[in-house]
Amino acid sequence: MWGKGALITLEGIDGSGKSAIAGLLCKELSKRGYPVTCSYEPRFEEYKRLIRGLGEDRESIYVEAMLFAADRLLHYSRILRPALMKGHIVIVDRYYHSSLAYQGARGVPLEWIRSLNRFVPRPDMAIYLDVDPRVGLSRKEGEAWDKARFQKLGLLERVRGIYRRLAEGGELILVDADRPLSKVYGDVLSLILGFLGRRGGRD
Ligand code: TYD
Repeated sequence: MWGKGALITLEGIDGSGKSAIAGLLCKELSKRGYPVTCSYEPRFEEYKRLIRGLGEDRESIYVEAMLFAADRLLHYSRILRPALMKGHIVIVDRYYHSSLAYQGARGVPLEWIRSLNRFVPRPDMAIYLDVDPRVGLSRKEGEAWDKARFQKLGLLERVRGIYRRLAEGGELILVDADRPLSKVYGDVLSLILGFLGRRGGRD
């Protein structure tokens, strides 16, 4: 915990509604008087470009994990830490657990991913929006930079499996996202307001 700042992350497979919910949360928390910083990962275009350019050889999944970790460490030092130091509530669309779930699902050992990411702090609260990958994929349309690499049913089923195990282990709070967005958003907002209320005032 960072003074009155807090690092809150939203996790889930593609099409789980994370980005829409992150946007709504940021508006609502600002309206309620909290200083808020909203961000997302992967954060920097140059890293996305490198990830997209990777091949499918055996080593690529490890390089991919390193590139996501590098993007995260820079994101943390340039954007997240300064906001936390100012006491902001920081909402991040994907963070540490995306690497565990996605690169884990691609075959990288979880302990290795944890170790790569040891220079960034764990979130104060991590919310996982759980949805069947078929539902998630059906919500996505058009071309995306990550479509060929990450938006594939088999992979997303494994990603979901890891997220669910992390939730069972208490690292993530699971919210059922196979419902209308307004319901999912309502639950996420209550969880966050409950958390902020328990940790004390906002000044
Ligand atoms: P996404 O949130 O969809 O970003 P964008 O809006 O830029 O497309 O993330 C892109 C993909 O990157 C997504 O399929 C999940 C993947 N990803 C990882 O595999 N590991 C990570 O650590 C992160 C942050 C994302």
